[in-house]
Amino acid sequence: MSENIIQTAKDIRKEFEHALQASHDSDSLEQLRISYLGRKGKIASLFAQLGRISPEERKSVGQTLNELKQDVTDAFQKTSEQVLSSTSSVEYLDLTLPGELPILGNHHPLTKVFREITDCFRSMGFMIAQGPEIETEYYNFEALNIPEGHPARDMHDTFYVDQTRQMVMRTHTSPVQIHVMENQRPPIRIIAPGRCYRNDTPDATHSPFFHQVEGLCVDENITMADLKGVILNFARRMFGSDMKIRFRASFFPFTEPSAEYDFTCLICRGKGCRVCKGTGWIEISGAGMVNPAVFKYVDYDSEKYTGYAFGMGVERIAMLLYGVHDIRLFYENDIRFLQQF
Ligand code: FA5
Repeated sequence: MSENIIQTAKDIRKEFEHALQASHDSDSLEQLRISYLGRKGKIASLFAQLGRISPEERKSVGQTLNELKQDVTDAFQKTSEQVLSSTSSVEYLDLTLPGELPILGNHHPLTKVFREITDCFRSMGFMIAQGPEIETEYYNFEALNIPEGHPARDMHDTFYVDQTRQMVMRTHTSPVQIHVMENQRPPIRIIAPGRCYRNDTPDATHSPFFHQVEGLCVDENITMADLKGVILNFARRMFGSDMKIRFRASFFPFTEPSAEYDFTCLICRGKGCRVCKGTGWIEISGAGMVNPAVFKYVDYDSEKYTGYAFGMGVERIAMLLYGVHDIRLFYENDIRFLQQF
């Protein structure tokens, strides 16, 4: 009896191996599973015969049947996985589905505006200059004719980086003027784009850190008319040929005379709207003729040389160009905002 069971087990093993090789899809595999491993399958019926043999033989025959069941289960499992993985890509691939577009990165709007501004000035013959973001109090204030105790220091809410208040996060890009003039003799024609820091409370138009582009031109016979020509050219290149500019008298310790200049409001094109408070003009930047007092700090002959300087807020220009009404949007890294540029 026990020999019969063992022989049948051998036959079932062979038969199963052949049947498995012929099964290439999930339906035929399922049939095979039911027929060999199911509750009423061939292997289960062999186990049922164990009760009919003597207890002495049952142990070794039982072990043979267990091995058969295990081998059949393993082989079945392996083939099922292979069949499933090879058919799933074929059976479930829907070629009519639209493809997934990869999300393309792009430049930050401030980077774009920075590049446009620098390209524009470069084409007018300006070089790019850079200076440190952590400055001594000398470069940020004193050499710009803002001595200690000068009320203009109060206009810049300054972050000091040491307790002796000697080192500051630069509050504007104007200190680069001093670095450049210390290292170079006229003629000078540079712009200095970069980050600035002020302890300003954040609101729709103010941020504790922001960007400026400084401009400086020093040579013989430079006049306010040169400044106006450069700014007008810049305004028209950036915003269109119908752009007008206007200069208003102002005060900066490092320029004399000083001015602030406005561009035609882009929103209403000069007609007057909520953004320009009905004036038709938007303030862009401070500017002026370099104060001879500043030339003293860098040892320039103010009888021979004159120069102009300007410093504009990059965020303000970006807000105008793109119609952005809150400066904080530039720094929040919200992908929905950034994807629009
Ligand atoms: C200055 O910083 C002068 N250094 C500009 C200058 C340079 C004048 C050369 C003359 C000659 P002012 O503090 O106004 O000026 O700042 C210039 C521009 O920086 C402002 O018009 C504004 O656009 C921008 N700005 C200033 N503070 C902030 C702030 N907290 N957040 C965003 N932008 C700011």
